[in-house]
Amino acid sequence: MSTTLLPLEAALPAEQTTEQDSLVRVRDLKVQYTPGSGLVLDGVDLDLFRGETVALLGSSGSGKSTLMKSLTGFAPITSGTVQACEFNVADLRRGQLRRLRSQVGQVFQQFNLIGRISVLTNVLTGALHDAGPVNLAGSFRSSDRRRALELLDRVGIAHKAADEARSLSGGQQQRVAIARALMQNPRLILADEPVASLDPRMSRVVLELLQSIAREENIPVLVSLHVLPLALGHSDRIVGLRHGQIIVSGRTNDLDAEQLAPVYDIDDQGEE
Ligand SMILES: Nc1ncnc2c1ncn2[C@@H]1O[C@H](COP(=O)(O)OP(=O)(O)O)[C@@H](O)[C@H]1O
Ligand SMILES: [Mg+2]
Repeated sequence: MSTTLLPLEAALPAEQTTEQDSLVRVRDLKVQYTPGSGLVLDGVDLDLFRGETVALLGSSGSGKSTLMKSLTGFAPITSGTVQACEFNVADLRRGQLRRLRSQVGQVFQQFNLIGRISVLTNVLTGALHDAGPVNLAGSFRSSDRRRALELLDRVGIAHKAADEARSLSGGQQQRVAIARALMQNPRLILADEPVASLDPRMSRVVLELLQSIAREENIPVLVSLHVLPLALGHSDRIVGLRHGQIIVSGRTNDLDAEQLAPVYDIDDQGEE
């Protein structure tokens, strides 16, 4: 693997290419949702290393969400292995699955905030991930509140802390969702089409934020996208999925639009 062509800011420290540092290791993963139906993922290999942002590129129906879900046990692992945060995902009992999920920050297209409560409380819910049901109205530690405010400051919207989440713009809501994910002290962030509902400018802001978080927290960020220029502009590595198979994979700086064109098979567009 060549790193000599990379500009300094995109280069990863050498130790990040060693196997023990991979937070996610997927081998020959096959996923079939129902017996007799086709394979949604067909022999996928994937490694995610600390500090890197990996764009998962593919058109609708190619299997991006399924691959992400398989990392936290939300998709059936029909065969192959999935290791995430040192867990062997196919074998987990309920308690272990909850522990794994508490270590994985998730960001979604639709933000998934609680609209009628404050931005600050939404972020604080990230701290509850491993705590079971609690009363949202009280019982947050002041250290948690301080940290939630710091995180809101980091994503650039501390001044909105007291506002109802639903009053924010889409880009602001997604930044709240990212702060909420960070509140978990995640070892890994999965962002499934995080900018599909945002305008181009805000898409860039959110993707830059995710990439800076990967670097500063030294954690992997896997972000699914279906827009090629966004993937080329905001990732360290690109994995291109088509019909449940990885057909392109490499360092972003080594790839161009032409090499990635096969990801966009027109038949993949899911006409329904
Ligand atoms: N829960 C499910 N049950 C059955 N089929 C599913 C389920 N989720 C996704 N699929 C199918 O798996 C394929 C890949 O879907 P998905 O992983 O959502 O792709 P993408 O995120 O790239 O659009 C699609 O054909 C979709 O219909
Ligand atoms: Mg999807």
